[in-house]
Amino acid sequence: MRSRASAPGKVILFGEHFVVYGVKAILCSINKRISATSQFLDERKVKIRSVLGEAELSIDSLHNSNLSATRFMKPFFYIVKKALEEHRKNKGIEIVIESQIPAGIGLGSSSAACVAVTASVNGLFERLSKPELVKRAIEAERIIFRKMSGADTSVSAFGGLMLYDPNSGFQKISSKNDLDLVIANSSQVHNTQEIVTRVRAFKEKNHDFFNQMCKKEDEIVKEALLAIRKNDLNMFGLLMSKNQDLLQKIKVSTEKIDLLVREAKKTSYGAKITGAGGGGCIVSLVDKSNSAATINNLKKITDCFPVKVDYQGVRYI
Ligand code: MEV
Repeated sequence: MRSRASAPGKVILFGEHFVVYGVKAILCSINKRISATSQFLDERKVKIRSVLGEAELSIDSLHNSNLSATRFMKPFFYIVKKALEEHRKNKGIEIVIESQIPAGIGLGSSSAACVAVTASVNGLFERLSKPELVKRAIEAERIIFRKMSGADTSVSAFGGLMLYDPNSGFQKISSKNDLDLVIANSSQVHNTQEIVTRVRAFKEKNHDFFNQMCKKEDEIVKEALLAIRKNDLNMFGLLMSKNQDLLQKIKVSTEKIDLLVREAKKTSYGAKITGAGGGGCIVSLVDKSNSAATINNLKKITDCFPVKVDYQGVRYI
């Protein structure tokens, strides 16, 4: 028996980093996916194959070790361990992970992988409800990213455009029009956990300043919600660029990101980092009138591509 599921990546339109400290964020999932295929094995082993590499563990080590040797594959082994324990099974399982989302560029590949693997592995026993699936995927991801807000994982599982409140969960946002976005990759690979830790150190040194930034971000998010309800792309884009100014002030932008944002702003409604920053990608808001111009402009400097909002979230294939 095989169980196959896929989950989308994401962009953060407003609120990355500040969301870790209680500010709401606006995110959407995008039409780039990660899929996971699981099947039982005759051997008592767990095998994982992905673009990032291969790893395997015996069922005994899965239950008796702390999984630390498995590094970035750790969340996936943890997902298998939990599922086997819950169903009192000791069968071997193989997971194959395939991705349309490059890792380490801020498009939510690790959250999407956790969501897809949680759905696929548990689907070998029983399909989980989305809330239960999100709970387990966040638990797995926090094995390596302890301070994650859970925003990326939630939007990957539920799909669509959402307001994420770290204290009370998410709310879907309905918008009259589909958003058209252009992503440009700085080609500077980042490590989300490292940047989140750096921001924490910055916050501790600059407590009052950081609180002011959180208040400003809170205002920006409120205004962005009004803008999306009125379908005011000019305002929504302007607010994205204002959000970028705050991200610059907390030092998660880079020279290359600043350059890409400047270029994107020449033709689009607005642009900013998406995700942790320190490299990774920028996202710019466009529509049919300026999408091609923005892509042509950014293409001269770097790799870029258009994306749309994905409304399905995780799905079984
Ligand atoms: C990473 O995609 C988003 C951050 O806000 C971290 C988080 O929300 O956990 C930087």
